[in-house]
Amino acid sequence: MTGYEGKRVVITGGTSGIGLATAKALIAGGARVLVTGRTPTSLENARAALGPGAIVESSDAVSDIDSLVDRAAAEFDAVDLLVLNAGGTVSSTVDETSEAEYDKLFELNTKAPFFTLQKFVPLMPVGSAVVLTTSVSNTKGIATTSVYSATKAALRSMTRTFARELIDRGIRVNAVSPGPIDTGILERTMSAEAARQFLDQIKATNPMQRFGEPDEVAKAIIFLGFDATYTTGTELLVDGGASDL
Ligand SMILES: NC(=O)c1ccc[n+]([C@@H]2O[C@H](COP(=O)([O-])OP(=O)(O)OC[C@H]3O[C@@H](n4cnc5c(N)ncnc54)[C@H](OP(=O)(O)O)[C@@H]3O)[C@@H](O)[C@H]2O)c1
Repeated sequence: MTGYEGKRVVITGGTSGIGLATAKALIAGGARVLVTGRTPTSLENARAALGPGAIVESSDAVSDIDSLVDRAAAEFDAVDLLVLNAGGTVSSTVDETSEAEYDKLFELNTKAPFFTLQKFVPLMPVGSAVVLTTSVSNTKGIATTSVYSATKAALRSMTRTFARELIDRGIRVNAVSPGPIDTGILERTMSAEAARQFLDQIKATNPMQRFGEPDEVAKAIIFLGFDATYTTGTELLVDGGASDL
């Protein structure tokens, strides 16, 4: 991939999975990329995977927004693409979900991207773009995902309003909505048995009979971020056809 020489990109949650794949592809295309994560292991993995050209910042998506904006401003002056990708999940039924779990997930998946976008906008020039990572679950009723799906539905809704409010500043805002992507997120957030059952069920029911790869979502993020210049407020599904077929 080429054609992103000198573009300045910030990716929250860019130290593994979808965010890391996006960073790799953009660096290969000549972009300057700053990625964030929290855990020492994922930060180290990202440094090794992305090489010395990348800025790998230890930054909590919820509590370190101001220092992230300062770092990006110091490194880049301006930001051409902001990818709001950091996110997590809880897997629990409505009976099992605690108020603390509910609040924590809304903080990470919805409140944090809202205020990160708000604080980055002053750094974003005409012609820049934002991509938010939602999920195909934002329109589905999948058992044990009520809180997660609601956080992503809120983000999908905000994508439209952000796009409308920022259109006069020349900033496009779109969402990418992955279906099941093989990043290990399920194994990290569910019991091994629950993850295995979920994985088997998805393979059996997905129209393409497989999981997506992080690279396949990265291509959609980069398309929305740089190439889809007549596109704003929309959502690109990357789900093997599961939502439509
Ligand atoms: N994989 C899927 O099937 C799928 C489907 C639909 C939507 N999504 C969405 O896609 C996005 C990326 O998911 P993924 O599967 O690539 O997950 P992943 O491999 O677990 O990556 C998540 C990234 O977010 C970072 N992160 C998590 N909590 C953070 C926090 N509080 N502060 C800063 N960084 C934080 C992680 O860093 P640390 O490891 O250091 O915490 C990591 O870099 C998420 O928003 C997820 O909801 C994924």
